[in-house]
Amino acid sequence: MKNLRNFCIIAHIDHGKSTLADRLLEYTHTVEGKDLQAQVLDDMDLERERGITIKSHAIQMNYVSGNEQYVLNLIDTPGHVDFSYEVSRSIAACEGALLIVDASQGIQAQTISNLYMAIDNNLEIIPVVNKVDLDSAKPEEVEDQIVDLLGCDHSDIIRASGKTGLGVPEILEAIISRIPAPDGDPEAPFQALIFDSVFNPFRGIIAYYKIVNGTIRRGDFVKFVSTGKEYHADEIGVLKLDMAPQQQLSAGNVGYIISGIKTSREVKVGDTITHVDRPCSEAIAGFEEVKPMVFAGVYPIETEDFENLRASLEKLQLNDASLTFQPESSAALGFGFRCGFLGLLHMEIIQERLGREFDMDVITTVPNVSYRVFDKHGNMTEVHNPSGLPEPTLIDHIEEPYIRASIITVADFIGPIMTLCLSKRGILVKQEYISGNRMEMTFDMPLGEIVIDFYDKLKSISKGYASFDYHLHDFRESRLVRLDILLNGESVDALSTLTHADNAVGFGRRMCEKLKELIPRQQFDIAIQAAIGAKIIARETIKAVRKDVTAKCYGGDISRKRKLLEKQKKGKKRMKQIGSVEVPQKAFLAVLKLD
Ligand code: GTP
Repeated sequence: MKNLRNFCIIAHIDHGKSTLADRLLEYTHTVEGKDLQAQVLDDMDLERERGITIKSHAIQMNYVSGNEQYVLNLIDTPGHVDFSYEVSRSIAACEGALLIVDASQGIQAQTISNLYMAIDNNLEIIPVVNKVDLDSAKPEEVEDQIVDLLGCDHSDIIRASGKTGLGVPEILEAIISRIPAPDGDPEAPFQALIFDSVFNPFRGIIAYYKIVNGTIRRGDFVKFVSTGKEYHADEIGVLKLDMAPQQQLSAGNVGYIISGIKTSREVKVGDTITHVDRPCSEAIAGFEEVKPMVFAGVYPIETEDFENLRASLEKLQLNDASLTFQPESSAALGFGFRCGFLGLLHMEIIQERLGREFDMDVITTVPNVSYRVFDKHGNMTEVHNPSGLPEPTLIDHIEEPYIRASIITVADFIGPIMTLCLSKRGILVKQEYISGNRMEMTFDMPLGEIVIDFYDKLKSISKGYASFDYHLHDFRESRLVRLDILLNGESVDALSTLTHADNAVGFGRRMCEKLKELIPRQQFDIAIQAAIGAKIIARETIKAVRKDVTAKCYGGDISRKRKLLEKQKKGKKRMKQIGSVEVPQKAFLAVLKLD
């Protein structure tokens, strides 16, 4: 165990974590040049295309220094705030972390939030200034920022480039000399922390864990503490580029277990594995049930695809336990599902996978958060859909989730960012210089305001010079009202939103204006109205038009005419008929596009 090191890489998104990991794998001959697809750790297509590490993985390297042979386990961490619980468990499985900071970007919001997680878990931090090959690199300035943040010495910081390989040998030496070997007693009752799991169509769920104490042998009878379920360890092993089976693994090691588990719901990140016969006295601290925070309706375009959609969602859930779904029906959209996601990125990923892997054409409704609705007797119900809100007379009060957000920016953009956050009902908690003219602003804000167009606005007002990170903070009472939209007098449940009472009128007006732009003119007038309860607060009208797409063909080429008609038919596909009105998919997301 003394020559074992477990470490992770923490960084803000795009600061070069995956590229640097590739260099470490190459240098230690874990992968050879010809196998090295760019970013081997990102093995889902989607991940590679988006350049985002979605699920964490682990990989073992052998490294020789002098006469000593070392085993290094690199535990990869996802780079996005939606997956921060997974990041926290991956970090908890390590004794040290490489803190990577882009030499041209400097410290960003996620650098700090991940660093705090690492410090909370007592990790040894090795600061690395990456991408020093860039012309725009300012390594001295960024080193100053790191020294201010960590209180370390300039000489502790390694300059590196994932592109040229500069600094890679120094990083490996620092890993073995600065990060402590894991401790833990191989003779104690078995206790292992699950930090990730993946679904394999042939082998079932493969759980990844770090052994804190004890020893596991192939064939052992084990128990997962939070679910109470018991399994035989059919196969255990370590994670090289592929899985490498072993007969036994002891404290300090990182490994995998295959035990015939069929669904990801049985394997929870953060859970503890122990022996049935000689269980550990307590579970490893920090287990949390991750709960979806963002909800949206997902409806098949063709009604008969409902069962196919259910089957697709079930398959997706096999390897993604954080996705939840429940059948619901909407007067406007028919039968579909209310899906729960960890956050907006997670939602986008699921939508994309439904299309890409299952060829499902779906309409998704505006995302909303989960609300706690209290009745007059103090009973609480969680409401995941604005149209599921009880009658106002039955409601005592409503609570909504608040996040604590950290935004790092330069002095020039403080004004506009403040205005934006205040307009989103943000409350400034703290504002401080972190170094030079860089500022960290901390806000408490309703999550419901973030899921609607916050990122894009932040990006555009700060010209990209603001980074953002958040975690769920608490639930707070808010004066929320349900805003309904009516088309030709008919309420469209899929367009209902919960909004703060003070903003409702302006919001309703902008919704009507936007819908007027998004809904195509039809052969009759369409009245768009916004209402709170029985009270209409805004109205727009779409004037009738008689649209003949073939008119401009001058009676000529028949095949051209047919093509146009086909095209029109296709265009219709992403429409839903609501009463007499045809409504395109983008109208259901109108609220995301309000100015
Ligand atoms: P996420 O997984 O999305 O968090 O990103 P990451 O931190 O893993 O970053 P990644 O390794 O994907 O690199 C982001 C971009 O920076 C890519 O376009 C890389 O080619 C580029 N890049 C990474 N390291 C270097 C470097 O040392 N120098 C230069 N010039 N570019 C780099």
